[in-house]
Amino acid sequence: MASVVLIGTQWGDEGKGKVTDFLAEKADLVVRYQGGNNAGHTVVAKGEEFKLHLIPSGILYEDKTCVIGNGVVVDPKVLLEELAYLSERKVKTGKLLISSNAHVIMPYHRILDALEEDSRGEHKIGTTKRGIGPAYMDKTLRIGIRIMDLIDDEEFAGKLRRNLQDKNNLLIKVYGVEPLDYDTIYQEYSGYAQKIRSLVADSSLIIDESLKAGEKVLFEGAQGTLLDLDHGTYPYVTSSHPIAGGACIGAGVGPTRINRVVGVIKAYTTRVGEGPFPTELADETGELMRQNGHEFGTTTGRARRCGWFDAVIARYAVRVSGISDFALMKLDVLSGFEKIKICVGYRVNNEVIYEFPQSQKIFKACEPVYEVIEGWQEDITGVTHFEDLPKAAQDYVRRIEQLTETQVTLIAVGPGREQTIVRGEIF
Ligand code: IMP
Repeated sequence: MASVVLIGTQWGDEGKGKVTDFLAEKADLVVRYQGGNNAGHTVVAKGEEFKLHLIPSGILYEDKTCVIGNGVVVDPKVLLEELAYLSERKVKTGKLLISSNAHVIMPYHRILDALEEDSRGEHKIGTTKRGIGPAYMDKTLRIGIRIMDLIDDEEFAGKLRRNLQDKNNLLIKVYGVEPLDYDTIYQEYSGYAQKIRSLVADSSLIIDESLKAGEKVLFEGAQGTLLDLDHGTYPYVTSSHPIAGGACIGAGVGPTRINRVVGVIKAYTTRVGEGPFPTELADETGELMRQNGHEFGTTTGRARRCGWFDAVIARYAVRVSGISDFALMKLDVLSGFEKIKICVGYRVNNEVIYEFPQSQKIFKACEPVYEVIEGWQEDITGVTHFEDLPKAAQDYVRRIEQLTETQVTLIAVGPGREQTIVRGEIF
């Protein structure tokens, strides 16, 4: 039995798609366990670029079973569009399964996400407006529509009618906008139900059977540690649990069945949306990182905020997820900088702290304490062995390992599958 949870270590966008794709080659089953189409995973396979939002990146290998777990919120329209996109690109999708317990993103979730966000004014969260938060709200309120309800005509009709009554009240009375029409949504979503019915499964059972048969299971997290609803930079977080523990709930698997946790971490830091970011560089160095690293959102196209590597965040992610290995991404983007900075602590209220603060008020006041190390000028995009990296790049990786007490097992030096330095086996 071997199971690996792969998570984002910072604020998302660390390059999880590439690592999932890399590890999926050895896996039998690839499972997504939280989030929805707020995620955007870019994978370059055989020289071609694929952009996925909902379907696990493992789909690019024909023989892998891919599972959308119960913890995911599924927009069926997006799911079908993604299936059509993959089929156009000649990717076979016959081994995709969806948990019957996953919740459905409805049109009113998307509309309310946008309306709520706009009404927050300067306190906006910067959501992707994909309906993620409102869908999880309905789940915790216990009024959500699950995939199993969607494919059961009677359940769906009843739940949609009851939900729509409440949501239309909100739309009309609170936001003063047009109500939604029951028949239109019913027709549209019944059509989706027909198309996805054959994919619906008890995914927890399938994962259990796979593990018992000695197969390899990869749990693919979306977003990142600091976007976790409980452990992230609340309220600037998403509404699900991207940390490793989220895999247990969002896939229906016990913690004793997880063997390893891979934290995907960028060689620098980026953040989309609002909220404090101590190592942010609002200058030409940050702009250089953005341009060299193509730091623009896969889902929304928004420019990502960029800054130096933050070891306080990395250590925190190791703590809350029990990370056993790091996959260090985009090391090549740092080529060409004369000096490179690593944030090793925060200066706040006349003292230096080394642990991630719980309060956002304190986090906002944190100034980075930097260690400055030599940069390297060489192009490293063709390097496949650690020993062939420039010495300064090797030192940078080793310093990250020291500061986080965690081994860097994979290093990405470019977007392609083959542009990966492997320093040990994960599966
Ligand atoms: P939501 O998930 O759309 O509700 O957005 C909540 C916060 O999470 C916002 O700051 C988003 O920018 C951020 N977010 C959600 N998904 C991603 C992602 O895949 N990468 C990076 N940030 C994300």
